[in-house]
Amino acid sequence: MMKVTLIAGARPNFMKIGPIVHAIENAKASNKSIDYRLVHTGQHYDEKLSNSFFKDLNIPEPHVNLGVGSGSHAVQTANIMIKFEEELASNPCDFVLVVGDVNSTVACALVAKKMNTKVIHVEAGLRSYDMRMPEEINRIATDALADVFFTTTPEAGYNLIEKGCNKSNIYFVGNTMIDSLVSNLGNLVKPALFDDQALSETDYLVMTLHRPSNVDEQSKLAKIINLIGEKCNGKKVIFPVHPRTKQILDQFSSIPENIYCTEPLGYLEFMYLVKNSFAVITDSGGIQEETTYLGIPCITLRENTERPETTTLGTNELLGFNVEAISNAFSRLFNGEWKRGSIPGLWDGKAAERIVRALIAMNTH
Ligand code: UD1
Repeated sequence: MMKVTLIAGARPNFMKIGPIVHAIENAKASNKSIDYRLVHTGQHYDEKLSNSFFKDLNIPEPHVNLGVGSGSHAVQTANIMIKFEEELASNPCDFVLVVGDVNSTVACALVAKKMNTKVIHVEAGLRSYDMRMPEEINRIATDALADVFFTTTPEAGYNLIEKGCNKSNIYFVGNTMIDSLVSNLGNLVKPALFDDQALSETDYLVMTLHRPSNVDEQSKLAKIINLIGEKCNGKKVIFPVHPRTKQILDQFSSIPENIYCTEPLGYLEFMYLVKNSFAVITDSGGIQEETTYLGIPCITLRENTERPETTTLGTNELLGFNVEAISNAFSRLFNGEWKRGSIPGLWDGKAAERIVRALIAMNTH
């Protein structure tokens, strides 16, 4: 019996791990020799950033929650390592599977490797080449440790090969975050604010901001919010505010009238808003992918992206915080001149199935 410990810690992990849990359960139901243990590190702990995703995505309760909570990067990463070392010692497994690029990803990969347990990285090989991003450091360190690499794009595979990874350990399988989207498109839920704010389809924008480089400095965040408020042609901008951003936003005396701030939304409500929006403004990684899949124009307030196919194939444009470029982008958007985009290969809702099939095949060697 192959035992895989799955790690989830922070919001973007849950959409990536859910489909893998479901694919393993399906494999078990057809008598395949594989089982899993789901470990939640507790990096995200708010109902809105964690539990609601388990409910929305039908992910079973984790077998254990390490309850690490917040802290500086060193404190958070170290706490995850201390707790996960005990967890893995009590519950050994064949593979530890980590997803994405958050602190839980790198912390658990490092612990597993030092305990001679093989590490699988899902969403391996992405690179923004921006070492000021904590996630880039986490990606590089995790890929340096991993034994098996599942990638979302061919380019991610080339990045790994360039760093000396053995080709035979790299599997291009597609995108498990898009699996979650594909399987939930029929279940999206209209949030109460849709009617309360008198929104109508394709007549409002959605904004999310949580990157430290955009939100941690009050003056930068104020500039961004004022510019977006001004450029949106009076259209409403729905802004679900991440707790990190809220800490700074709470100090503002006013924000533009057409920007409506709300708590973070659950997955099904958030994706409903995105799917029906005119356009999205973000600095998230995952939302660049989700908008590309949905064909919704995406204005990304970052200078680089680890997901370049969303700009080359998809509907995404990187604008950093260049006022002229942003103004120009909004003119094109409101003049109906935004590119149409296409969906990257294998973003078809079946990535987790491919991952589990590959794992089962490894077991027989
Ligand atoms: C983390 C990930 C980031 C991911 C983001 C999505 C890392 C390095 N960063 O960033 O890649 O895109 O999650 O949300 O792992 N907080 C709460 N409630 C929670 C969680 C956090 O109030 O449930 C507060 C914390 O106290 C802290 C702030 O939010 O003040 C930031 O949380 P943290 O987990 O450190 O990083 P994120 O910015 O959420």
